[in-house]
Formats: sequence, C-alpha cells, structure tokens
Amino acid sequence: MDRLKQLKLKIKFLFGSLFYASYAPKAFLYTRKRDRIEREFIKPSTEPGFDKPGKLLRAEATVRGANFYFEMAELEVCFLTEDLVRINWKPGIPPIPYGIQRHEWPEVATNLEQTENNYSVSSHGLKVIVEIDGSLKFCDRSGQVIRAELPPQSKSESWIHQAQLRIEERIYGLGERASTLNLRAAKDEQQKSKTYRMWNYDAAGMYPPGSDPMYLCIPVYLGLHSLGSYLVFYENSFDANFTFGETATADFTGGALRYYFTSGSITQLLERYTELTGRAPLPARWALGYHQSKWGYRAEAAVRKEAREFQEHNLPLSAIHLDIDCQVGYRAFTIDPERFPQLASFTQELAEIGVQFIAILNPGIKYSRHSNLFLEGQILDGFCKLPNGKLVVAPVWPGWCVFPDFTNPKVRSWWSRQYAYLLDVGVAGFWHDMNEPAAFIISGDRSLPKVTQHYLEGRGGDHREAHNVYGLLQAEAGYESLRQFRPEKRPFIVSRAGWAGLQRYAWTWTGDIESSWGALRQTISTVVGLGLSGVPYSGPDIGGFQGNPSAELYLRWFQMSSFLTFCRTHSSNNVEHRTPWTYGEPYLSIIRSFLQLRYRLLPYFYNLSWEAAQKGYPPVRPVLWAANDDSRLWDVEDAFLLGDALLVCPIVEDGARSRQVILPPGNWYSFWDDSCFVGGQEVNVPAPLETIPLLVKAGSILPMVENKQLILHLYPPEQGETFTQLYSDAGDGYGASRIDKFQMVRSGNGLEVTWEETGDYSFPYTSIKLHLHGMKLQQAWVDNVEVAGQGQQLECDRFIKVQLKVLSIEC
Ligand code: GLC
Repeated sequence: MDRLKQLKLKIKFLFGSLFYASYAPKAFLYTRKRDRIEREFIKPSTEPGFDKPGKLLRAEATVRGANFYFEMAELEVCFLTEDLVRINWKPGIPPIPYGIQRHEWPEVATNLEQTENNYSVSSHGLKVIVEIDGSLKFCDRSGQVIRAELPPQSKSESWIHQAQLRIEERIYGLGERASTLNLRAAKDEQQKSKTYRMWNYDAAGMYPPGSDPMYLCIPVYLGLHSLGSYLVFYENSFDANFTFGETATADFTGGALRYYFTSGSITQLLERYTELTGRAPLPARWALGYHQSKWGYRAEAAVRKEAREFQEHNLPLSAIHLDIDCQVGYRAFTIDPERFPQLASFTQELAEIGVQFIAILNPGIKYSRHSNLFLEGQILDGFCKLPNGKLVVAPVWPGWCVFPDFTNPKVRSWWSRQYAYLLDVGVAGFWHDMNEPAAFIISGDRSLPKVTQHYLEGRGGDHREAHNVYGLLQAEAGYESLRQFRPEKRPFIVSRAGWAGLQRYAWTWTGDIESSWGALRQTISTVVGLGLSGVPYSGPDIGGFQGNPSAELYLRWFQMSSFLTFCRTHSSNNVEHRTPWTYGEPYLSIIRSFLQLRYRLLPYFYNLSWEAAQKGYPPVRPVLWAANDDSRLWDVEDAFLLGDALLVCPIVEDGARSRQVILPPGNWYSFWDDSCFVGGQEVNVPAPLETIPLLVKAGSILPMVENKQLILHLYPPEQGETFTQLYSDAGDGYGASRIDKFQMVRSGNGLEVTWEETGDYSFPYTSIKLHLHGMKLQQAWVDNVEVAGQGQQLECDRFIKVQLKVLSIEC
C-alpha cells in the first residue's frame, strides 16, 4: 500500500475512533445510572422453588395427552401432532406466544398407559415416558429412546433443565452463534464445555470468532446421534445459559419451563419447527441479488456515483443500503432532505437501473422536545419506563434516546405508521439495527436496565422477559407496515436482533464481525446454524465489518458469499471504502464472474426460497443434510450445501490453492470442469484464486438463466430417476405463479427428461436449453422428433418429453 493511502487510512481510523469516543461521557453516565437503578429496584425473589418435582401422585388423560401431578409441580404433555409434543412444567409465568405462528392443530389420538414403575403417553409417532421422579424419556416411532431428561429443578424464579447426551451426540442451533457448528465441540477456557448465553447482545465494533452472546439468540437446538435426531425449542424468552457437556443444560432465569419436542430426520425437524414458529415468506427476487453497503454514504451524489460505478464495471447490483449517516442527526425515519433533496425521484432513478434503496432504522428515539416522534410516543405513553414511572433514557447514535415498548400492540401499530412516508418516496426496504435493543455503556450489559417495565400485551412484566423479543416485535411492526402501505410488493426487512419466529418478518446479517480469515471461516457455521434455527436468510458483511481485508481475503469472502442467501458488502466508517473494484485486477474480474454466476443461478436461488416458504428448509444447509446418518459429515463446518444440488467449499485460509473436501455419498461433479468425484470419501480439490471448489450432486437438474433463456444443467443420476420442481412468478407481489416439474430418468445409455407445466403464470423464459454434464450427447428426440444437438447442449422450445442417447463418462 502506498504511503499516502496508509496515511489516509490512519486519519480515517482516528476520526472513527474519535467518533466512538465522543459517546463515552454519555455511556459513562448511563452505566452509573443503570447500575444504581438496578440496585434500587431489583428485589430478591420470594418464590419458593424446588430441587425436584417430588413424587408423582397421579396422572390423568387429556384430549391431547395427559397431565401429571407431582408433589411440588405439575406436568402437562400435549401432542400438537403425532410427532410434535409440548411439555409444560408448572408453576411459572406462561409465555406470551410471540414465537408461535400456529395455534390450532388438528386432533391427535393419544393414549395414557400405566406400568408398574412409570407412565407413558403416546401418539402413533412418539412416546413420552414419565417416571415417578419427573424424569422423561422421548421415544421415536420404533420405540428407541431419542432423548432422556432429568427431573427439572426450580430455584426461586429460575429453572434448570437437563438432558443426558450420548457420547457421539452433536448439537446445532441456538440462533446466531460465533461458535463451532456443533455447539458441543467448542470449549470455554479451562472448561470441558462451552456455555451459550441466551441474551441478545450488541457484539459491538469488532467481534472475533468465539464471542458469546450474539445479537440474535433463539432457544432451539437440534440433537443428532447414532439413534436419530430431534429438536427442542424452549418457549421462554428470559435470559438463560445453555451448556452442552455430558448433559445438555438449560438454565433459565425466569418464566415457565415450556418446550416443544419433535424427532425425525433433519428435514422433518425443520418442517415441524417452522410449522410451529412460522416460515420465511418468499422474498422479492431482487433481494437475492447483490447488495452494496457501507457506513459512509452521506449524500445522493455518493450513492449515485456508486451505482454508476457498478454499471461501468459491468457488475450486477440489486440494492444499496444507507447507514445512519444519511439521516438527520441519526434519527429514526429521517433521511436528510439537504443531502437527499429529491428523494422520490432519486429512488426512482435507482429503481430504473434495478437498484433498490434500503434505509437503516434504529429503534431508539431522540429524547428531545423537538422530536415529533418523541412527542407522539409520549402522548401514546408508548416508551419503556422504570418501575418509578420515569422514562428509560440511554445513549445510542442520536444521543440520549427513549425506546418504544414494542410489547404493546398500540405501540407496534404507531411504529408501523411511521414507515409510510419513506415507502411513499420509494424506499424499498429497511435495515433494523441496534434493536437488541443496544445502548452505549462503559461496562456491563449493553442494553436497558433489567427492571425496565414492559406492557407485554397487557399482562405486564419487565425487560428480563421482553429483551429477547424486542427486535422480533419491531420486525413484526415493520413487516405489517410494509404489507399495509405497499401491499403490491413483498416486504424486505433485515434485522440484527430477533428471536424464534423472526423468519416470518425479516432477514438478518451477522453483525460487526472482525475482518480476518478466522472470521470468514466462522461465518459458515453462524449462517448454517441460523438456518437450522429456522432463519433461512442471513449473511456476513463481506470482508468483515471492522478492519481492512487483504485483496485475497475480500475475494475469498466474496466467493463464499456469492452462495449465501444474503450477499452484501458492508464495512465500518473508519476503514477503507470497500467495493468489488477496490483491489483492482485480477480480483475485480474474479468477483465479477462470481457475481454474474450468482445472477445466473437466480432461478435456483429463487426456487430454494420458495421451498423455504413451503417447508422451512434453509437454502444454505449443513453438509450433513445430504445424509444425516453419515457421521463423517456431522462436524463439517468449512463447507455447506446450497440446496440439495450444490456443495460449496469456500477457501478460508490465506494463500490456499486447494483444499480437502469431505464428500457425502453419491457422485459429485465439479461445476467448473465436470470432473467427477466418487462420494463417501475425502478428496483434495484445486482452488486457484479464480475458483473455489463447487460440486454438483449427480442426479441434479440445476436451473440457470442466461439472456432470458432457461438452461437446465443435467447431471445424470447413476441409475433411476430424479425429480425437480422450478417455481417462477413475477418476482415480486402476490400474483400468478407456476411450477415446472422436470423428471430425469436414466437407464443405461438413455436419458429421458419430461416436463410438466402447472400454474397460471406464463413461462418467463424465451426457451430452454438442456446442457449435459458427465456424458456425451449422441442422439436426441424432442417429443419423438429427432433433432440435432450442439456438442453437449440441446436447444429446445417447449417440450413434454426429451429422449437422449448418451455416452456416459466414467466417474
Ligand atoms: C452497528 C451496525 C453496523 C452499522 C453501524 C452504524 O455497528 O452493526 O452495521 O454500520 O452500527 O450504523
């Protein structure tokens, strides 16, 4: 780097640091005040609690299961479906069902049985054995014990819940985690296990791998062992610690011990969990494109210049995200009219070149009589207060702020109304930041005092319960607003914080991660873990938030992110401006080729989004998804599947030009040159700077688009048939749609592809081309008429059946 550039960077860094430092006095005052308030108002609990529930006294069958009465506690076992059961230990404050989407379930036949030593309550799919001391065993359809739980303990308001873990058992999930994919593999210093905290937390500035807690915690995890897999979701939003050692321990500071259990294959678990907590709706197609962001686009001219440069560099771009510096004094729902004087025509100008304008939005409202939002919120009595009735005031970007109480439906609808103006002037989506909610502090928790009072749908409670659902409820208000005020388009919201069910309203990103190779590697587990926790749309700040990545690190980060659902470059205000052309050649050309590949893959991405909306499967999947009984795959955390067809193996080491790949069963083809690898083994795959190992599963039909033509890339199954559905619609809105069903049947040297069209949306491509991989095309018939192929390709118009004579290339 030349000296002038270094000097500029140092000055930028200095200004950035001064900027942060300018908040220190307020942070200091707030920290002291918060500590004083907590000392004053936190009262020791008088709840008695118990070490064990005591002896089981009696049981009685209910419509959906059974109730069990112990000396000190009650247990309710309620089957929602044959393989989904809700367990409720009482006493405890019943949760407000913020995380739950589905409340009505069809009838389930259950049966309560008593044996000499215990009871069991079962459906056709699951059996729960209730022991005399309150320990539980969950058995699958075949009678295998999938999970064994110890009797719960309750200490004053808190609950400790433990389950035995098998030696080989792996644990995944808990929302956003900067940890190993298998959460049990990570260890705290000098400890045998790692504890994960369930408390949404502003991992501010520059967090390294291993940080905990993170912005978006979800008390859900999947267990996988040699007898099967299961999922547990605790419907409790209180602060908790989860530890996975010899046992899985969940230690909640309050609330009820209410949880859901389901067992089955990984796909079934995700299907059930998202049936319960909701699925991510289909996003607008543009959202799956590339997003450019930075903390530092201050004015219209800078944004226009950026969008133009994307065009000049022939780089596709779908959205630009505007950070707090586009606002007036960093205030919510503002965009500075002096720096963006013609906002409506400017957003229109961007939209015409296919670029959407996304605005940041923080929940803290400037505490000032000159702020209309503050005055309106006061009239509504809508801000969070202390037990003495005074407003909670804490520092965030605008200075001293107050915080809307999103647990109040009146406040949610007031907040919803605020988006209308920005929607009117063409803002396409919103980026909810700092919504843990975050506050600046010197030490301790970066949020509101725990004693902060919340409405909690009229039932009342404090921040210990409301904190983790704060971002979720802000996202709900935002989503409802976009549905109401712009009903013809699909909402786009990215939220930093959230809880179970966030996927119903928003995407997320992995926050202020440091710029390092370790952080790049970390991102894979974080994103995959989020997907397994029901949140299918996420991605990192490409290149890391804080720090200046080397050209190679940025490139490798970009290559990986091209296959994640949310693909966005973002960076802090004190680092070098970062775009795909920052590092010149050859990096720019390579990034361009990956970006163009992503756009060519959009039919595939979009179809995966549709699948996520239908079934809850995350598009970005752990490699074990391919065969969850293959224990070789359980710890693979440096690669991921994009859908079932693509195995993406990012390069996460400086200077690496090849890498080891653990292949799931079945044959796999290199996307780049069709070389074939026999699955079920570990192979070394080249990775020059220009590519990362990208493998396609034999039997896949990979849909891609080029110049409006649909290209179906056919990777032949070894034998037999495979089936692919391709969803299409207008790409936004709620109009007509279609599903094209393709079947590929292989027998010897014959390959047959059939196409069935369904739905009311007209075919959105000019024509179809079939592209064969791993076989040579010899002869072809389209609807029984012989046609000539071009090398490995066959141009078709519409067809019902294509028959191919092929010469397969041995794998
Ligand atoms: C937070 C966000 C970051 C954003 C910054 C300024 O640190 O995580 O993405 O750029 O605030 O708004």
